[in-house]
Amino acid sequence: MSLADLTDLTNVFVDPAAYADEERFHAACRVLRRERPVVRVESERYRPFWAVTRHAHVLDVERDHEHFRNAPRPLLTPAEMEARAAQANGGQMLRTLIHMDDPDHKAFRGVTSTWFLPGRIRALEDRIRELAVRYIDHMADLDGSCDFVKEVAVGFPLHVILSILGLPEEDFPRMLQLTTELFGSDDDELSRSRDPQEQMAVLFELFQYFVALTADRRTNPTEDLASVIANATLDGRPLNDIDSASYYVIIATAGHDTTSSSIAGGLEALLRHPDQLARLRDDPSLGANAVEEMIRWVTPVKEFMRTATEDRTVGDETIPAGDAVYLAYLSANRDEDVFEDPFRFDVARPDNKQVAFGYGVHFCLGAHLARLELRVFFEELLARTANLQLAGEPSRSATVFVGGLKRLPVSYRMR
Ligand code: HEM
Repeated sequence: MSLADLTDLTNVFVDPAAYADEERFHAACRVLRRERPVVRVESERYRPFWAVTRHAHVLDVERDHEHFRNAPRPLLTPAEMEARAAQANGGQMLRTLIHMDDPDHKAFRGVTSTWFLPGRIRALEDRIRELAVRYIDHMADLDGSCDFVKEVAVGFPLHVILSILGLPEEDFPRMLQLTTELFGSDDDELSRSRDPQEQMAVLFELFQYFVALTADRRTNPTEDLASVIANATLDGRPLNDIDSASYYVIIATAGHDTTSSSIAGGLEALLRHPDQLARLRDDPSLGANAVEEMIRWVTPVKEFMRTATEDRTVGDETIPAGDAVYLAYLSANRDEDVFEDPFRFDVARPDNKQVAFGYGVHFCLGAHLARLELRVFFEELLARTANLQLAGEPSRSATVFVGGLKRLPVSYRMR
């Protein structure tokens, strides 16, 4: 393959618009998986990195967390932003679970990990169902058609995660705006501005809000997750402002766009595959299976990165110490070696090894919550609606990190 051809293919990783054009993205990854599964990527906007596109290699890197660390480059960020972040606050602007490695990571994750265990999450089912019903009632008010993203998919998971954190409902719109601006920083329609300084300002605003929340929960502890974080101690000391605010930021942001993209993308997949929609309607016991397939299909988190601490071999390539590796989850979830007929959407796909939640020590903290939200939501949606159909062309967000549909026009009849 010529260098020019290879650059064309690897450009999909560094071009936010490519993630909005799934056909182009998948076509490039299909060739890369076969011919250059571990490939070095150079571009103007980002420092160079290696992309791994096969499922097996993504797992190899994630399993080897001693030699492939999250710090200092956990996700694909423009070189200019990386430089600014390093200057701000001595590089300590944001220190979340995804920025940490053991032993800190283990200790910090331990602060909330019991909250997110399956048994604990199951206890939230009634509350989550109540919220799902609220959003479906809202659909009923909209006269048989709506932009499903705007009216339902964005609000429902935000409502769930902010309720769990314990934030007051009147603050939800502000949180929605800030998290959309944070994740939509590569999309002109969603971002506040393309200016990195303005984008940093979004983070500062989130921080200010959460610093005030910590102070409040220390004075008036309640049963919510914010109180757990605010009153946690590590080595006998409370978390400092940056660490506790970072904790809320990661939970509020990671728990929102990911799940809303999966719900909207899951519905789009069902509408584009009416046989699968009918199958799920006829057999609701397929719910958990269907959710796994929706999450594989959408893969809302496009990448995370790791940095090699010493020379490491992945596939046929040596990743030199200090180089970063991009984990191409979207590609891994279409790997022909793992998924039979990977481009078929199959709500009954057996033994689904999707890797959309990552793997290993950083495996998504909220995976059980996200699965429950999707299962409950689709149970309620399919029970209450009939004639669900696409009512226009959907559009996707330009992003290099988390995203999916930003518009999904649908029509329906309520039952
Ligand atoms: C379908 C929805 C979701 C998807 C696809 C998703 C995906 C991911 C992925 C790929 C990672 C990184 C894993 C790795 O590095 O191996 C991650 C981490 C994380 N996710 Fe999720 N996520 C989802 C929903 C949620 C929800 C609802 C929460 C709510 C709390 C959440 C909280 C987190 C946190 C805190 C981390 C960092 C974990 C760590 O570094 O130890 N996620 N998620």
